[in-house]
Amino acid sequence: MVLRDKLAIGRVTMIIRNDNVFLLQTMNTSYFMQVLPSGHVEHIHYGKSLLSAGQYGELLKGNAEDLKILSDMAQAMGIKHHHEGGNMIAYSVETGPLCLEIMPLEMSSFGKGDVREPLLEISHSDGSRTSDFLFEKAEIFDELSELETLPSSYDDGTSKTVCSAFSFDDKAQQLVITLRDKEYNLSLDMIYKVYPECDTITRSAVLYNESENKVVIDRLLSNQLDFQRTGLQLTSFHGRWADEMGMSQSLCTAGKVVSEEISAGESGSRSNPFTMVSTPDATEDAGDVYGLNLIYSGNHYSALSSNGTFLSRFVSGIQPTGFAWTLEPSEKFEAPEAVMAYSCKGFGGMSRAMHNFVRKHVVRGTWRDKERPILINNWEATYFNFDQSSLLKLAKEASKAGIELFVLDDGWFGARNDDHAGLGDWRVNTKKLPDGLNGLADKINALGLKFGLWVEPEMVNEDSDLYRENPEWAVRIPDHPHSLGRNQMILDFTRKEVQDYIIDSMSKVFSSANISYIKWDMNRVFSDSFSRELPAERMKEFTHRYYMGLYRVMRELTKKFPDILFEGCSAGGNRFDLGILSFFPQIWGSDDTDAVCRMDIQRGYSYGYPVNTIGAHVSAVPNHQTLHTTPLETRFSVAAFGCFGYELNLSELSEAEKKQVADQVAFYKQWRSVFQFGDYYRLDKYRAMVVSKDKSLAVALIFQKESRPNNDYLALQTKGLDCDKLYRISNRQVKINIKDFGSLINTMAPIHVKQDGIIHGIIARHYKMQSEKEDITTTGSVLNSCGARLSPAYGGTGYGEDTRMFRTNDTRLYIIAEVK
Ligand code: GLA
Repeated sequence: MVLRDKLAIGRVTMIIRNDNVFLLQTMNTSYFMQVLPSGHVEHIHYGKSLLSAGQYGELLKGNAEDLKILSDMAQAMGIKHHHEGGNMIAYSVETGPLCLEIMPLEMSSFGKGDVREPLLEISHSDGSRTSDFLFEKAEIFDELSELETLPSSYDDGTSKTVCSAFSFDDKAQQLVITLRDKEYNLSLDMIYKVYPECDTITRSAVLYNESENKVVIDRLLSNQLDFQRTGLQLTSFHGRWADEMGMSQSLCTAGKVVSEEISAGESGSRSNPFTMVSTPDATEDAGDVYGLNLIYSGNHYSALSSNGTFLSRFVSGIQPTGFAWTLEPSEKFEAPEAVMAYSCKGFGGMSRAMHNFVRKHVVRGTWRDKERPILINNWEATYFNFDQSSLLKLAKEASKAGIELFVLDDGWFGARNDDHAGLGDWRVNTKKLPDGLNGLADKINALGLKFGLWVEPEMVNEDSDLYRENPEWAVRIPDHPHSLGRNQMILDFTRKEVQDYIIDSMSKVFSSANISYIKWDMNRVFSDSFSRELPAERMKEFTHRYYMGLYRVMRELTKKFPDILFEGCSAGGNRFDLGILSFFPQIWGSDDTDAVCRMDIQRGYSYGYPVNTIGAHVSAVPNHQTLHTTPLETRFSVAAFGCFGYELNLSELSEAEKKQVADQVAFYKQWRSVFQFGDYYRLDKYRAMVVSKDKSLAVALIFQKESRPNNDYLALQTKGLDCDKLYRISNRQVKINIKDFGSLINTMAPIHVKQDGIIHGIIARHYKMQSEKEDITTTGSVLNSCGARLSPAYGGTGYGEDTRMFRTNDTRLYIIAEVK
């Protein structure tokens, strides 16, 4: 029963205030703070629930006597000062021994004795850099507000919790604490949104200049999280083009650990904005883990620092290096929204909370809860070398295989025959496509496929009509040499006329044919950052203004074309973040399509992003990025744990492979909703599974990193199944090519068969072996606790129909279905 029915009250509130004490409560977490007599806001606790469901229920009744427990808790838990500490600063005579340096705070500004890393740094008009923001008021709202210049999380009330002791069934709530710097007449709204069902709390900060002087914001970060312990671990994700999301873990016993994108101008593959803070003993299934992210796509900064004694501080927000913002009187500045998901159930528990949050409160629009189509993309099949008939040939094969969407990638417009020209000229190249986009789309539709298109609207080639006509729209420093990336320049999205032009030209493209999908690419990082329209003293605003402009363009276009499925892309996963996901429900994960590399990359994403946001395709072998050959089944199994598609020349596959593709497509369609909307569990480095929300269905993946003879005692041990349920486990059976046994065929053949000779080929074509067949029925509790033993793998001696062929780089998918 939900809490409000149980208590017979009108609304279950997730934010409870008693005087100067505030409790933010989710299903399994509490966030607790109080206003100190000085006016500073002390951060007391964020983590495990401080109250049982029963105790919380009592608070909801709103009796003054019951609410007093909050003040008692704050009294018990808050930091106590009895004397000034050595050379520390005593904040004021009135507040006695209060030293900000050792207070866990909700917000630190520069200059008043908290010598740790601040959230806020302002240069005032008199040259002072000291700020002092103190509590003015707090208000709780049942409706969530949105930032005006940046994307925000939201709640449409469709995700409810019915499975916890707390059983919230109301929409998220918001607390706004207003602080004021009286000396300079500035105010700061700290906005907290509480999403109870996914154990997530978000924060943002809005600074208002209510004075008569302009000020310069040197930094306004989004998140500050103080911990009353040291020796925490920061996990961050780093890489480069085609090698995104490598996980790195650093223990911060003292000093500082940083994850940042300094000047790339995009959230970036060098450092993704998603990070985690955890206790060093946290594992996949146990221990305290905080998942932390920003709803932002520009340069970012996250740091965990510690004084080495008993305090640690995590901060995160817009990268302060290279940033400054002039705030005129009566203007405001919005910092991006920061996201925090906590779990005491380790990295896995945190990831699932974060996935639920991203799926319901970041991703939005028509496609949020809809199954995503299986696509074929022509990029790795043709690159720039295509025409209408080669595209239609590919589409025909795709249609035969049951694929649902055909995506025409780069090269369809202007003089775009390679990556030196054409960007900016969004007119169809009628030499390649004589019937135009419309004609091509109709033909593709007639084959039973939807039609999708690639664009890269933020960019221009010097060799383009757009650049020849509007050279001042490209980002460069006038009269100075500039650098290119992939032969292209960035358009100055800080300028409204450029934004308007792109909205207009993209609107024309998107409505020029029956377009169901758009891949929005962005293929270089920033250099020579400069806008002709910004005064010199505001040039450090450039990158943030670019993103405000880009978000405006994305907002307008997604509003205008609500049924189009948009996929973000930035030379793969170079701009994979919650800012993009606020507009586009999915993002291409990496330009590396090698299945083995992809296992690592997608596993990296899985810590902070749900499966149905990560584009993943089956491509040709040898793989175009690594020249590595993996089985088609492996490429499928890995891509199925993402927004699934193909990106290879299907017409050049053998008949057997074409059949295999059709079989994969049919299989994926059958289990698509579990893959796309199920709960995701990392089993070990090379195993993962998804479990439907009602725990009646699951699909598990096992990957063989390296096969060894006589060494297989594999059990399928699961996570997340319902211990009380009975399940039947079967494997996805695959065809085995007899050639995979090499010359071992001679141990069975009546005549000698020369390996790879004509006879070997004929036998392989006509004689197909089926892989082993698992059929196990057991309880969820057996599966979760010790697992079900699988048939043995080929181990160097003997082979029977129950033997699992499990070579290096092979995979198996297992279906686990409840027996009703
Ligand atoms: C980027 C993308 C690729 C492809 C090419 C086209 O590299 O990540 O998927 O679209 O651009 O130029």
